[in-house]
Amino acid sequence: MNEYLREIAIKLAREAGELVFARREGQIEVAGTKSSDVDVVTKVDKESEQLLFSRLEELRPDDGFLGEEGREKNSKSGLTWVVDPIDGTVNYLYNLPHYSVSIAVVSGDPRPESWQVEAGVVYNPSTDEMFHAARSSGAFLNDRRLEIAVPPPLHLALLATGFAYSSVMREEQFRILSQLIGQLRDIRRMGTASLDLAAVAAGRVDLYFERTLSPWDHAAGELLVTEAGGSISGIGGLPVGREGILAGHPDLVAEFVEKLSNIGGDRSLAEIPGWEFDSKDVK
Ligand code: IPD
Ligand code: CA
Repeated sequence: MNEYLREIAIKLAREAGELVFARREGQIEVAGTKSSDVDVVTKVDKESEQLLFSRLEELRPDDGFLGEEGREKNSKSGLTWVVDPIDGTVNYLYNLPHYSVSIAVVSGDPRPESWQVEAGVVYNPSTDEMFHAARSSGAFLNDRRLEIAVPPPLHLALLATGFAYSSVMREEQFRILSQLIGQLRDIRRMGTASLDLAAVAAGRVDLYFERTLSPWDHAAGELLVTEAGGSISGIGGLPVGREGILAGHPDLVAEFVEKLSNIGGDRSLAEIPGWEFDSKDVK
């Protein structure tokens, strides 16, 4: 069943990816802003989500849907599709060829602390790279099976991370990173959380860490990591979700959790002065 769901996700990610890529030939306009002035949505984000929603209505009418751009439907089957129609919208806007369509199908309550991801696909249409996984069937980049390699020591690890759209949170994230950068090989901020997780699965970075993500940013990517033999962890003893997500080889993740705690990088979001999130962004 999971492999069948993965096949659907691959097909739809390709359809939406082709649409998104083709639209990039024209002028891309910001259609609105969300949680802050720098959190933008384009017409193509909405078009891609509409395409995915209506295709899933045809193919899987009893499944639920949770999309970044507001489409939501309760599940009758116990399965829910968690969709980011363009992850890396700012890259897309600037024509940086590093953005994705991210599609996961989860069972149970569609919240990161309780869901089980059954299948997940992250597709970058500008490189034609299709990362895909089905639970218990492995993770792949196109036809190549992915496996997390033996990790380097933490001081030689390459860390990917991302920043929130809230300026208060960005300053906090920068403060934490400034304490880490001297103790790692280096840090990358590539702009697309789902592709950061795919990069961990593919051994392109050793670790990934981010706070304040939404469910659609990491649903598919987290399965890529675990199916490649990596581990996904929350921070500060909390479940994976808005509070934080860490991904990498299990040994390296355990070491990084400790390091983060030593520098106060795992205090809860509620303790960060001035931080408040917009509840419309949180499912
Ligand atoms: C964003 C990207 C970015 C991450 C942000 C996400 P969006 O998603 O994944 O890399 O740092 O936290 O919100 O807005 O481009 O779909
Ligand atoms: Ca998005």
